[in-house]
Amino acid sequence: MPDVPAPIDATQTPEWKALQDHFDSLQSKGISLEDWFAADPQRVQKLSFDLSDLHFDLSKNLVTDETVKLLAALGKAVGLEERRAAMFSGVHINTTEDRAVLHTALRRPASDAGKLIVDGQDCVKDVHEVLDRMYAFADSVRSGEWKGVTGKKIETVVSIGIGGSDLGPVMVYEALKPYADAGISVRYVSNIDPNDMAEKVKGLDPETTLVVIVSKTFTTLETMTNAREARTWLLEGLKAQGAIDGSDASVADAIKKHFVAVSTNLELVEQFGIDPANAFGFWSWVGGRYSVDAAVGLSLIIAFGPQMFKDFLAGFHDLDIYFCETPLEQNVVALMGLINVWYVNFFKAASHAVLPYNQYLHRFPAYLQQLTMESNGKSTRWDGTPVTSDTGEIFWGEAGTNGQHAFYQLIHQGTRMIPADFIAFVNTPNPTKDGDQDVHELFLGNFLAQTKALAFGKTADEVRAEGTAEWMVPARVFTGNRPTTSIFGDTLNAHALGELIALYEHITFVEGTVWGLDSYDQWGVELGKQLAKQITPAFHDDEALAAQDASTKALIAYYRAHR
Ligand code: F6P
Repeated sequence: MPDVPAPIDATQTPEWKALQDHFDSLQSKGISLEDWFAADPQRVQKLSFDLSDLHFDLSKNLVTDETVKLLAALGKAVGLEERRAAMFSGVHINTTEDRAVLHTALRRPASDAGKLIVDGQDCVKDVHEVLDRMYAFADSVRSGEWKGVTGKKIETVVSIGIGGSDLGPVMVYEALKPYADAGISVRYVSNIDPNDMAEKVKGLDPETTLVVIVSKTFTTLETMTNAREARTWLLEGLKAQGAIDGSDASVADAIKKHFVAVSTNLELVEQFGIDPANAFGFWSWVGGRYSVDAAVGLSLIIAFGPQMFKDFLAGFHDLDIYFCETPLEQNVVALMGLINVWYVNFFKAASHAVLPYNQYLHRFPAYLQQLTMESNGKSTRWDGTPVTSDTGEIFWGEAGTNGQHAFYQLIHQGTRMIPADFIAFVNTPNPTKDGDQDVHELFLGNFLAQTKALAFGKTADEVRAEGTAEWMVPARVFTGNRPTTSIFGDTLNAHALGELIALYEHITFVEGTVWGLDSYDQWGVELGKQLAKQITPAFHDDEALAAQDASTKALIAYYRAHR
């Protein structure tokens, strides 16, 4: 194992025991947010935090002053501050892959070159070399200086990737859509299901299409299959249009002008036929799900321009600095992670809802699912020993108000506690009136109403006072005391989005540290990949079929019978 201290078992610390006693005492006294607010007029101020773009209200969480103190003490007891310093300085905290974890280097300013030398590499210098190449490339595509094989300007980018090579870029593209200013749209293909590619290239002209292949390893089955499919689609299309004659030279020229790649494996990129000048690298110390601010964001720079990406990186960096420099008790990032631990391990919450009241953030929950669950969905600690508590949370969500008309019933009145993060922005790029009513205010009214209902509920007496028949009263009672965090921003722009993403990256790190996890490996995705390789031939090959279990055999028999 790399030379890092073994995890401290949080559950065996006096701080954990103190939290358990505190939890028991709160339970026996009865938790009442209403009473807590009444007893402490300073509660909102104490639990509110301001970063440059985001305002946080943690006051509707099931925490008291004492809880916050005890959670910060737990963070200290498990060495959160030391591990944070280790991560930022390039210690190989990704033990199972023996790698540094340095996504935070991706957003450090160029003036930090020479200040972070890890394993002999000047990380910040290398980051900025690639960024500068990407900015120059994106500028040439945006201006039309970069031309397709027939001399036409690029109008559409097809970005092919999956997991961390897709979810981040898609989410950011959707989030910042109002800022796309170069007349270039991006379509993202991820699924190996041929329907995905078929629908995404529908209506596209190969002469004005640029394909960006994004894969950290450049070996991922889905991405490489889709990349070959896109190459065939593009070359066949160009041939059919008489744009190329199909000779080796014309094919090579078309690939050079219509394919670029993002990867850590530049050798395989070249083997695919992509000009190394059109390849943008990153490094093994950037995990896939932490890579949207690396070269993986190339499609975003093309769509939104270099300045937007610089603002995006600055948002991340500002949050990194805050997270590093703020004492745990006042550090909203650390506290949000620790409060999640409080809910998972003491209240036994299994899931966590993320509810953006902003349609542009509609892919944010999906993005967070990979970030949080691929990072912390684990049963083994970073030294190979078993975990000692529950880990991970099932992250899920949907843009408000759509979720309200779907699953909020369960959050309000179900038997399980589901902590929820509500995210909204004061300003909208699309101000609209419905008569005299500002529609955005109508929307924000819902954002505020939901957290209020969840916190304070509705008593039986209040229900009775509405004239409800007695037998029906229980069905219409809201218990309240259902925890939420409100994140309210000024405007959803690149800087704010960078802050928001970095926030959840570090929340994930905080939780992983308490649980003793290597949040940066993902061995749990490997078995399915291996088995898919063994099983796929069985659709046609009887020998391969014979090697399968009874259930798989029966499903393949169904396939054969219906094909
Ligand atoms: O299968 C999971 C995974 O390894 C993710 O961690 C990663 O983001 C995704 O696959 C894509 O990998 P790559 O960028 O190497 O194609």
